[in-house]
Amino acid sequence: MRTRRIIEPFRIKVVEPIRMTTPVERALHLREAGYNVFNLRAEDVLIDLLTDSGTGAMSADQWAAIMRGDESYAGSRSWYRFEEVVRGIFGFTHVIPTHQGRAAERILFSTVCKRGDVVPNNTHFDTTRANIEATGAEALDLPVPEGLIPSEPHPFKGNMDVAALRALIGRVGAGRIPLCMLTVTNNTGGGQPVSMENIRAVAGVCHEHGIPFYLDACRFAENAYFIKVREDGWGDASVREIAREMFALADGCTMSAKKDGLANIGGFLATNDDALAQQEENLLILTEGFPTYGGLAGRDLEAIAVGLEEVLHEDYLTYRIEVARYLGEHLTAHGIPIMQPPGGHAVYVDAAAFLPHLRPLELPGQALVAELYLEGGVRAVEIGTVMFGHRDTATGEEIPAKMELVRLAIPRRVYTKSHVDYLVDVLADVFARRATIGAFRFVEQAPVLRHFSARFEPAYAMAASA
Ligand code: F0G
Repeated sequence: MRTRRIIEPFRIKVVEPIRMTTPVERALHLREAGYNVFNLRAEDVLIDLLTDSGTGAMSADQWAAIMRGDESYAGSRSWYRFEEVVRGIFGFTHVIPTHQGRAAERILFSTVCKRGDVVPNNTHFDTTRANIEATGAEALDLPVPEGLIPSEPHPFKGNMDVAALRALIGRVGAGRIPLCMLTVTNNTGGGQPVSMENIRAVAGVCHEHGIPFYLDACRFAENAYFIKVREDGWGDASVREIAREMFALADGCTMSAKKDGLANIGGFLATNDDALAQQEENLLILTEGFPTYGGLAGRDLEAIAVGLEEVLHEDYLTYRIEVARYLGEHLTAHGIPIMQPPGGHAVYVDAAAFLPHLRPLELPGQALVAELYLEGGVRAVEIGTVMFGHRDTATGEEIPAKMELVRLAIPRRVYTKSHVDYLVDVLADVFARRATIGAFRFVEQAPVLRHFSARFEPAYAMAASA
């Protein structure tokens, strides 16, 4: 029998219209937005790939569960259901519900970090880094070298460089490392998975030195699926078993249920440390809410409880990973340079290779994001110098990011294959006229997380005004 193509494992019950705009409208909208697609109105976007976070479609079972939501302030039935599901999959003794991932990060890091500390990760996500830095600690990225070469097709480019972790501990001492994290999958590093072997090795080094080891678990199911299909010895294990093994190696985790919770909002913090949990719950009450709801309504807890079970269905994960693979393969066929292999939740275009005539400080990722919107109403996000570059405090010099990527993040269960084919067409059309695409520069920027609110202008405007 022929291998059958992989299809969406659902049929569609509710539809949400999307609207095409004209090129002239888009040019106007983009200019009004200061060339920052975060400032666009979503209704002016045709295909929204800004993020896979909170943008997924819920299932009939999730909507049904929402009606069962118990909105009691304390001890609601929905809380116990949520706690049971989280404990069942993640295995930690304390589960602390938060309104989203970064609230879990803020509570965790403000409890354990202090000035002078260092927190290593394969690659910190922007909110993770910002929450660590807000405590005066340093957020350090230790990806494996392959993780920084977009064209290198390594199966586990999300891995941490274990030798670099050992060297760090040797240099600063375990006492200055309040915890070590691994982000699964490594979002900022291209949505690339971390192998079980690497998780075990990193956990081993941490535990040898008494350093707590945490997972940033946002896309844990996608990571577990990659372990199943790519790592020797795991092919016969279920994704749930693999996830249990990943978390069994850790002392705690942070989670954004907006990703692999298949929910539109929510998150949690988990730990096996009783004393730490107590401190975290005290902070939770101060800023999020009572420990049996955190920042969430009872109905959200229900939607997440169902979503966390559904995300482990292997037909769902097969389809999910196939979408990124299919998109990646078709872009590659047009010669478009992408981070290889495609990640779990997104395809990352290598903007530096796409626009080789632009230097990093000419913001090639930002230029490409603008062109994708102008060409086809597609909203992507820059993950390069705009997001991760910074100004050297001593010299005032702009330091570019290590890579210039543009992320095409794929919302869960939202777009069909013909939407993906349309994306390929849009990217191919932009690629065909790439030599004509010019540089951008900042007009305004905030001191932290500047990519959200910055305003830009095409560099020709700079030349004209100079
Ligand atoms: N950690 C990772 C790896 C993430 O990707 C995100 C969010 C967070 C933490 C924070 O979670 O948004 O619920 O507060 N990533 C989104 C993205 C925003 O677009 O990749 P949050």
